[in-house]
Amino acid sequence: MKRPLRGEITLRGDKSLSHRALMFAALAQGKSRVRNLSLGADVAATAAVLGKLGVPITIRNGIATIDGHGLSAFRQPAAELYCVNSGTTLRLMLGILAGSQLHCELTGDNSLSRRPVRRVTAPLLLMGADIQTRSDDDRPPVRVAGRKLHGIDYTSPIASAQVKSAVLLAALAADGSTTYTEPELSRDHTERWLQHAGAAIIRSDMRTALVPPVTLTAFEYDVPGDISTAAFFCVAASVIGSSRVVIKDVLVNPTRLGALELLRRMGARIQVSDSRLCANEPVGSLMIASSQLRGTDSDGIATASFIDEVPALAVAAMFASGTTRFRKVGELRVKESDRAQGIVDLARAFNCEAAIDGEDLIVHGGAPQPATPADPRGDHRLAMAIAIATLALGGELRDKYQEMIAISAPEFYTILRSLC
Ligand code: S3P
Repeated sequence: MKRPLRGEITLRGDKSLSHRALMFAALAQGKSRVRNLSLGADVAATAAVLGKLGVPITIRNGIATIDGHGLSAFRQPAAELYCVNSGTTLRLMLGILAGSQLHCELTGDNSLSRRPVRRVTAPLLLMGADIQTRSDDDRPPVRVAGRKLHGIDYTSPIASAQVKSAVLLAALAADGSTTYTEPELSRDHTERWLQHAGAAIIRSDMRTALVPPVTLTAFEYDVPGDISTAAFFCVAASVIGSSRVVIKDVLVNPTRLGALELLRRMGARIQVSDSRLCANEPVGSLMIASSQLRGTDSDGIATASFIDEVPALAVAAMFASGTTRFRKVGELRVKESDRAQGIVDLARAFNCEAAIDGEDLIVHGGAPQPATPADPRGDHRLAMAIAIATLALGGELRDKYQEMIAISAPEFYTILRSLC
């Protein structure tokens, strides 16, 4: 039986902000407290890596306490720094460690060991970093021998917040200023954080200039709810008839709202209210009411602003009438799994047609129904997509993918169940 989703929820802290809060606390002087930290395994990987570097850090009930003494107090780790499944941990920590005095090796699980790192190592090498991959290829493990860096004026060929953040974090410990330009604005959390911390940072469109030194002091911070997890609830509430869901205190940073824009184009009824700035990040509430969706084209919406949400959006596209085209989403191929192929297979498992057309992904909507078992490929966001598609078809909500989903949102099933 398909039951409407109804109720008011809050979500655990945004994953991108949780990583950054831990890193900035470690780089700051003094005791910081971070509340509503993401409980996902990715953020736990960042905490563990910082712990291995001698940063005193404890996490209890989602409250992290970090006793930061700055980069110079980081200790030589006894072994490799295992980043598990987390690309953000590996890429941002590379930026931090490049300007340290330590020799480190960063590794990951099978999925992370297949993901490209040259996009980050290339600008760091230009800053004077000493970084190597084992066989000089584009994948982890990555070895970094920290040394004095110098600022650069870099134009990135891709819109990547991980690359931008790695460069800006490295720039904090470099001599001279750094300028970073990207082809499209990617999530701007690192710049906002630095701005909030009082750094000499100038931003204009796609360009950020940072002049060190930056004095980072300890802080108290409440992480707003994860907007990428919220996207799954937005889609579920949109496609399950008679639903009405409110998501309180969630991050509504414009660089992360492409999915909401796309859903609205599809006819979704989603309102943002109670918007305010918390520690320089927009936070607000979402109200979602179910509606008939129709296919759309993402043309004109910045890809980086919805790339993590494509698995959720693909489910919306399956339940919509007509065809949806996600433009310029080639990056999906190098996420936690090849999400482009994963989504094509997922749509087919629900009896819908989908295809990859160059850099675009096309999903034909219609009348989804379970056809063959869908494969989440070990990927947390494909697993959540399968869960909401199954629920929307009146299927049982089983905790089948709990372990995978716990990469970003261990609370996912519990919260979804609370709405049924
Ligand atoms: C992230 C940036 C994005 C995103 C990832 C988290 C971040 O990756 O897909 O899930 O926290 O900076 P890219 O920067 O590689 O696009």
